[in-house]
Amino acid sequence: MPKNITKVVLSDDEIPRQWYNLAADLPTPMQPPLGPDGNPISPDMLAPVFPMNLIEQEVSSQRWIDIPEEILEILYRWRPSPLYRAKALEKAIGTPARIYYKNEGVSPAGSHKPNTAVAQAWYNKQFGIKRICTETGAGQWGSALAFSCALLGLECKVFMVRISFDQKPFRKLMMQTWGANCVASPSTETNAGRNILKESPDTPGSLGIAISEAIEAAVSDTSGKSRYSLGSVLNHVLLHQTIIGLEAKKQLEVFGEKKVDVVIGCAGGGSNFAGLAFPFVADKINGANIDIIPVEPASCPTLTKGPFAYDFGDVASTTPLLPMHTLGHAFIPEPIHAGGLRYHGMAPLVSQAVVEGLLSPRSYRQNDCYEAALLFARTEGFIPAPETSHAIKCAIDEAVKAKEEGKEKVIIFNWSGHGLMDLVGYDKYMSGQLVDHELSDADMQKSLKAIANLPKAKAVKSGRW
Ligand SMILES: Cc1ncc(COP(=O)(O)O)c(C=O)c1O
Repeated sequence: MPKNITKVVLSDDEIPRQWYNLAADLPTPMQPPLGPDGNPISPDMLAPVFPMNLIEQEVSSQRWIDIPEEILEILYRWRPSPLYRAKALEKAIGTPARIYYKNEGVSPAGSHKPNTAVAQAWYNKQFGIKRICTETGAGQWGSALAFSCALLGLECKVFMVRISFDQKPFRKLMMQTWGANCVASPSTETNAGRNILKESPDTPGSLGIAISEAIEAAVSDTSGKSRYSLGSVLNHVLLHQTIIGLEAKKQLEVFGEKKVDVVIGCAGGGSNFAGLAFPFVADKINGANIDIIPVEPASCPTLTKGPFAYDFGDVASTTPLLPMHTLGHAFIPEPIHAGGLRYHGMAPLVSQAVVEGLLSPRSYRQNDCYEAALLFARTEGFIPAPETSHAIKCAIDEAVKAKEEGKEKVIIFNWSGHGLMDLVGYDKYMSGQLVDHELSDADMQKSLKAIANLPKAKAVKSGRW
C-alpha cells in the first residue's frame, strides 16, 4: 500500500554515490561523433574544447561512474532534492492516478542545471583550467555555471541568447551576482557573432549561435587555460543529471510504490529528461512496462518531427557531427518563453533511445502549457519555469487519461525549475498576448536543407520495442 505522505526528503548519507550511464545498456551501440572529414573523431580532437577528464566520461561505456566526494560536498547544499506527491493537483483533476514530481527548483540557481555545472566546473578545475565559456538560453544554465564557478574559484563567461537576455534581465543579474561576465548573443566579441549580426542585425539569436560564440571564445584563448562547457546534449552532461532519477527511485520506495507507469520530462537538449528518465529506461530495457515521455514545444519539435541525422550542434558548424534528431543547425525557433527548449538538436543518447522505441516523445503548444502551469501553481503552490510547464501539461493529460480508463497509475515527472524569474511569460499568457506556433513541414524542410550534404546517420534498432 502506498503511504499517505506528501513528500520524501532523503538524508545526506542516502545520496547516490555513482552516476548511471545509459550508454552501457542501450541494446544497439551509439554511432560515433564525426569530424569535418566524415570520419569518427578521436578523444584528443576534443581536447582544445573540453578537459580530458570530461572527454573520458563523454566516451565512457562504463555503467556506473563514481561521484567524487568533493562534488557531493557541494551538491549536499540542496541534494537529495525532495520528491513530492501532487495530492492537490490529483484532487483538482479527480484522477485515481498518483502524481509525483521531483523538485529540482530547490537548487541555488533554481533548476536541475547545477547538477552538471558543479561537476563540470570541478573537473575543469582538476585539469588546471581557469576560465569556462558557455552559452545560455533562458539563463538557467548560465546562472548554474556562474554559481558553480563562484564556488570553485573559476572565471565564467556567458553568451546569452538575445531574446532571453531582453526578456529575462534578472537571470543576467544572477550571473553577475555570482561574478560571471554575461553578454547578449550574437555579440560583437566573436567572428561567429559579428557574421550573424552583419546578415541579420535584428535576430532574436539561438542556442546554436551562442554555442558557436562560446566555443570560439574558449579555443581562441592563447593561454590554453580556457575551456568550453555545454549545459545539455552531451553524454557526460546527461550522466551527471542521472542523480535525479536515482534519488527518485529510492524516494518512490519510501512512498511505498512498487511500480511506475509513466515517466515524464521536458526536453530541450535532453538533460533533465534523461536525468530523471534514464534509470527508468534501464528498467524498461530489463523488461519493465513503462511509458517514458520526453516533451517538447510544438514550435521546436526536434523529436516528434525532426529526422535522425548527423548534424552540427551549432550554427557556425564548429562542433563535431552528432547522430541526433534535428531540425537543422541553422534553425531559428520562434521566440517562445520556454527559452531552454529552443534548440535544434537533441542529445544523441535520447535520440538513440527514441530510435529504439524506448521513448514516446510528445509536443505541446505554449498556451496549453501555461494553462497547465497555472493549474499547478494554484493547487500545488510552486510556480514552474515555462520549460517545466511542458512536463506538467503531459502529466495532467496522463492523469486525465488514467481517470477516463479508471486506472490507478503512478506518474512521475521532473519539475525541472521554478519560474520566479520568468513571470513576464505568465503576464503575457494571463493577458492573452501569447501566440502559439507550430512548425510547418514546409518550414522544416527548408531548414533541413542545411544538412542535406552531411554524412547520413543509420537509424539502427534492435526491434525489441
Ligand atoms: C527549467 C528548465 N527545464 C528544462 C530545460 C531544458 O533543458 P534540458 O533539456 O537540457 O534539460 C531548461 C533549459 O534551460 C530549463 O532551464
